[in-house]
Amino acid sequence: MYRTHTCGELRIENVGDEIVLSGWVQKIRNLGGMTFIDLRDRYGITQLAFDENANPEMTAKAREVGREFVIQVKGKVIERSNKNPNLSTGDIEIACHEINILSKSEIPPFTIEEDTDGGDELRMKYRYLDLRRPQLQRQMALRHKVAQQVRAYLNNQNFFEVETPVLIKSTPEGARDFVVPSRMNPGQFYALPQSPQVFKQLLMVSGYDRYYQIVKCFRDEDLRADRQPEFTQIDCEMAFVEQDDVLSTFEDMTKAIFKNVLNVDMDTPFKRIPFSEAMAKYGNDKPDLRFGMEIHKMNDLVKGHDFVVFDSAEYIGGICAEGLSEYSRKELDKLTKWVQRPQIGAKGLVYVKYNEDGTFKSSVDKFYDADQLKKWADGFNAKPGDLILILAGDEKITLHGLSELRLEMGSRLGLRDKKTFVPLWVVDFPLVEWDEESQRFYAMHHPFTAPKPEDINMLDSDPGKIRANAYDLVINGVEIGGGSVRIFDQDVQAKMFKILGFTKEEAENQFGFLMNAFKYGAPPHAGIAFGFDRLVSIIAGLDSIRDVIAFPKNNSGRDVMIDSPSPVSEDQLDELMLQLKEEEKE
Ligand code: AMO
Repeated sequence: MYRTHTCGELRIENVGDEIVLSGWVQKIRNLGGMTFIDLRDRYGITQLAFDENANPEMTAKAREVGREFVIQVKGKVIERSNKNPNLSTGDIEIACHEINILSKSEIPPFTIEEDTDGGDELRMKYRYLDLRRPQLQRQMALRHKVAQQVRAYLNNQNFFEVETPVLIKSTPEGARDFVVPSRMNPGQFYALPQSPQVFKQLLMVSGYDRYYQIVKCFRDEDLRADRQPEFTQIDCEMAFVEQDDVLSTFEDMTKAIFKNVLNVDMDTPFKRIPFSEAMAKYGNDKPDLRFGMEIHKMNDLVKGHDFVVFDSAEYIGGICAEGLSEYSRKELDKLTKWVQRPQIGAKGLVYVKYNEDGTFKSSVDKFYDADQLKKWADGFNAKPGDLILILAGDEKITLHGLSELRLEMGSRLGLRDKKTFVPLWVVDFPLVEWDEESQRFYAMHHPFTAPKPEDINMLDSDPGKIRANAYDLVINGVEIGGGSVRIFDQDVQAKMFKILGFTKEEAENQFGFLMNAFKYGAPPHAGIAFGFDRLVSIIAGLDSIRDVIAFPKNNSGRDVMIDSPSPVSEDQLDELMLQLKEEEKE
């Protein structure tokens, strides 16, 4: 028997018990005739004591072990004279009478402790060691717990877990596909699913009216802290439902997860904000509602005072940062540089300080008198002591800039507490989005998303104005999930493909199987997918989804541990009938 207990289990009640423990050596201390080892497994740490006087041979052996050796010990639980209140096993230690080295370890490249000394790349290379750290083990345990909660909730609601294939054909989520060459069909390729979208709709046609799957999805897109090339979705679809049914089912699921995992209460129904309002008030479609600081459009208030920057701008808007009127010139200059970075792209920053004494000081005093500035301040409900920050320019860029500025000021003012969770639904997204570069419409969600019934009459005349029955779940400024009511009427679907610039043949070629299936009795249906990694990372209070994925990729999409992607042999290429271009070979 390798162990009778885990390293996190023994307590004062066990004193006197003969036990066996196995685990990793965290630390060794030699103090006179005594040697102490901290033995670790994923349950905790237990202190082992070896007494040279009682057993010199065994103690000599204990002194040979190094960090991360795997050992087994036999001994008796005794009360510690020097208790450690920070350790759950801190009241006891093991008076050992036998030690067996099960496996030796080289000196690890970094310390396996809460905060390690290893850099990011090094820890990724030795991810299996990084995963030994308590912090990562807690994150993995949390991920496991959230998955259990999801399954428990959905099973209880009659959802049916169905696996869908991974070697498929391009799916319409708008990123690039990862492709896999087919040996048996030379010159042809599978695509990995960007989501199981089409399959879950087919399952509705098959009558499996509540489907879910915790499933890997693959998207070849630029990576960010909240994006991985392969990530996990909680993918769901329901038949015979309307938008409200989906929203209430999934806000109840979210509420249950937060309650059972974090003991955090969320009030339902969640707030719902139309896309247009989210854009106007917060400058983006995933607003962080842990704080207000709404954006106000100021065009009508500021134009016509000979200030060219405002007079020539398509959009002028601002935010009010409470209590920051004391910001120094230097701080404002720094903030100006901050908004001028290419990621934000503002030309400059106009400020108005509403001083504590009720006077105003602004960077545009030359053009606007105190009465006018007071009107601006009233527009924001500003009080003496507040600071108004204004950007102007192209509407899209400026709103984006204000959105970023709002988040930055929210952070500076400590309004984005990681333990506060504010969920909301963003609804009524536009159905399609015009792309200037390619001069065509793209589906904002995907081509199967249904228009709002009241907007359907614009399908032919003004598709850009149509709102969709699409929704995103946003928590604390992170898009946690997205979905829509689907088109199940063949005529509407055909029109949608036409708007998106598909010829009949192209639509047939890419989605013919789905259109065919719809000929055999398609129920009304709707669905949603949660980004599982994002959900877990926000629950964990982390900024990067990498920290909740056991084996993530780095920012260039590489797994540095297994060294992937990597070249394949000439034989493999030959078998696949593939030849690399010269420049790629080099
Ligand atoms: P969507 O494309 O909005 O919808 O994806 C659903 C959710 O998945 C998460 N997500 C990601 N997480 C990590 N890395 C990525 N690269 C990544 N991309 C997306 C987000 C997002 O909200 N088939 C539709 C769903 C539906 O209509 O039912 C879909 O995939 O949290």
